[in-house]
Amino acid sequence: MDILEIDLIVTDIVRRVSDVIDGVFDLEIENKGAYTDLVTRADKEVEAFISQKLRENFPDAQILGEETWDENKEYSTDKLFVIDPIDGTTNFVKQKKDYCTIVTYFEDGKAQLSYIYDIVGDVLYSLIRDKGFFIDGLLQDPPENLGLKDSIASLDLKRLWGQEIVEEILKGCFAPRILGSAGLEGVRIARGQIGVYVNKYAGPWDFSAYYLMAKELGLHLSDLNGNPLDPTKKSNFIISTKAIAKDLGLD
Ligand code: IPD
Ligand code: CA
Ligand code: CA
Repeated sequence: MDILEIDLIVTDIVRRVSDVIDGVFDLEIENKGAYTDLVTRADKEVEAFISQKLRENFPDAQILGEETWDENKEYSTDKLFVIDPIDGTTNFVKQKKDYCTIVTYFEDGKAQLSYIYDIVGDVLYSLIRDKGFFIDGLLQDPPENLGLKDSIASLDLKRLWGQEIVEEILKGCFAPRILGSAGLEGVRIARGQIGVYVNKYAGPWDFSAYYLMAKELGLHLSDLNGNPLDPTKKSNFIISTKAIAKDLGLD
């Protein structure tokens, strides 16, 4: 199937996520081991909905979803959908805003399509390989390539505390601002609102949309040692302008 045909189908599925969440009356908030790692009935229902629709439309593709991820399973990026059903569950539970759904489609080992759906704002950010970055279907210009001293920076501070990179970024940046959703932090970089986002411990579902952001918008994406990320494994990461990666000695 042509990539633009896949785009039409996935766009329609992702945009229905807010209806799925509206249909969940009891959130059944739990933690996944750690006290601050929350999951709700909405996370599970959204993942089940998207997975079922993707299976109906793309029976050959594998699915890697946060809530059903099997650490011991081998996932192949030959034909793979990666899903974060609600990214920013803490925001969803405690702030009722700034959370999103992330879906990325990999084919032939490369990210082809990515979606970040801002659920409260009802805005769909999408990336199409070799076509660019879109907001509700409108093509966007790449962000300015600002260095650290002119950029707002976001860091997963609680997990990164004590790491050298925290001090380097906090001292060197224009100002820090943390949102609490890896997907929407990526969008802020894509739109030129912040210049860098760093996370210490993330799942493939958190950073799946960054591959196309980096490729289509000329951004830097790597782990904290400057190495490429494996799209099926957990990792720390940094996504930033190329100028910031240079300032930090990563590019
Ligand atoms: C989390 C959010 C948060 C980031 C965490 C992620 P979740 O995703 O993106 O901003 O700091 O590392 O795990 O658990 O809400 O999908
Ligand atoms: Ca997430
Ligand atoms: Ca999630």
